[in-house]
Amino acid sequence: MTDEATATLWWDTPSQSIRYIDQTLLPGEFTIVACTSVNRLATAIRRLEIRGAPALGVAGAYGVALAAATSTKTNHTAFMEEVSAAAGILRSTRPTAINLAWGIDRVLGKISPLTDARSAREYALQEAQTIAREDTDCCHAIGKHGSTLLPDTCTVLTHCNAGALACSSWGTALGVIRSAVREGKNIKVISCETRPLLQGARLTAWELARDGIDVTTITDSMAAHFMRAGAIDAVIVGADRITSDAVFNKIGTYMHAVCARHHNIPFYVAAPLSTFDCVKTERDVIIEERGREEVTTMGNRVYVPDGAHVRNPAFDATPMDLVTAIVTEHGIVRPPLDIRSLLSHTSTI
Ligand code: MRU
Repeated sequence: MTDEATATLWWDTPSQSIRYIDQTLLPGEFTIVACTSVNRLATAIRRLEIRGAPALGVAGAYGVALAAATSTKTNHTAFMEEVSAAAGILRSTRPTAINLAWGIDRVLGKISPLTDARSAREYALQEAQTIAREDTDCCHAIGKHGSTLLPDTCTVLTHCNAGALACSSWGTALGVIRSAVREGKNIKVISCETRPLLQGARLTAWELARDGIDVTTITDSMAAHFMRAGAIDAVIVGADRITSDAVFNKIGTYMHAVCARHHNIPFYVAAPLSTFDCVKTERDVIIEERGREEVTTMGNRVYVPDGAHVRNPAFDATPMDLVTAIVTEHGIVRPPLDIRSLLSHTSTI
């Protein structure tokens, strides 16, 4: 399996568009979408056609490059106003994954000091492509470091999708599993379905089965049962944001961390440094609340009566004391974290 075969989103130069796999259609349909406008990209992010923190970082970066490429403004001030407005639209689509704003800001930071629109267009695209490439490199480095945590034969539980689809390619949590398998380890994966949008059942199981990695799907509520039965050796998940006191990830992650601690199972998080937040603490982070229909409806059937209230937080926070270790592109860190000093590493691997 090559990285090209697993690329999630990329820039298509002839059509000046962002190409991506529409993740809402998997596993039934494999469709590549060509996106030529920032508004369409914002919709794609809101609808989770593109999703997963590192992939959102790359999408945000390409989004700024797309805004620059499609702007007809020749005056530099007017050009930057238009690109900044587009960046604002993209930034507002999903608040929890820090990578989205990180990717947008990195490209804006690159082009802000420039004084002509033409070179800004060129540099914006170059920076976005660099971010995409670096993300793949980070995933491979995370995979290599993380693999050392896994025994030669083991069963690993994961939640949501922290795979190639959630990144440029390879994946963070699934990158660790892929790297371990590539090194010859005998890894079995338990993939929790991840209600309400089923990223685990639809995406993680699809990716791993496609790569010939042993994967078993369970409903989220079965995880504690399998931990108690001694069937899980480690839990490994990705992250949308890591503050000094908590790991934000897909709703349900906290429940797995609590159960893992109770059963003495290590709970690992795999994430690039672009997911770390040295400014906010847990209580300042906005947890995205999504629409009721994601909970009430499956296919065309409604399962919850109109009179019932529904809550749908997309993420939860796992307190740092439940985390055994975090795998980054620079190596393995264990709580307590000093995020400022971690981020003072250079971005090169
Ligand atoms: O709502 P989603 O599907 O974007 O949520 C994704 C997750 O929670 C992932 O686990 C996280 O972004 C890490 S992806 C490497």
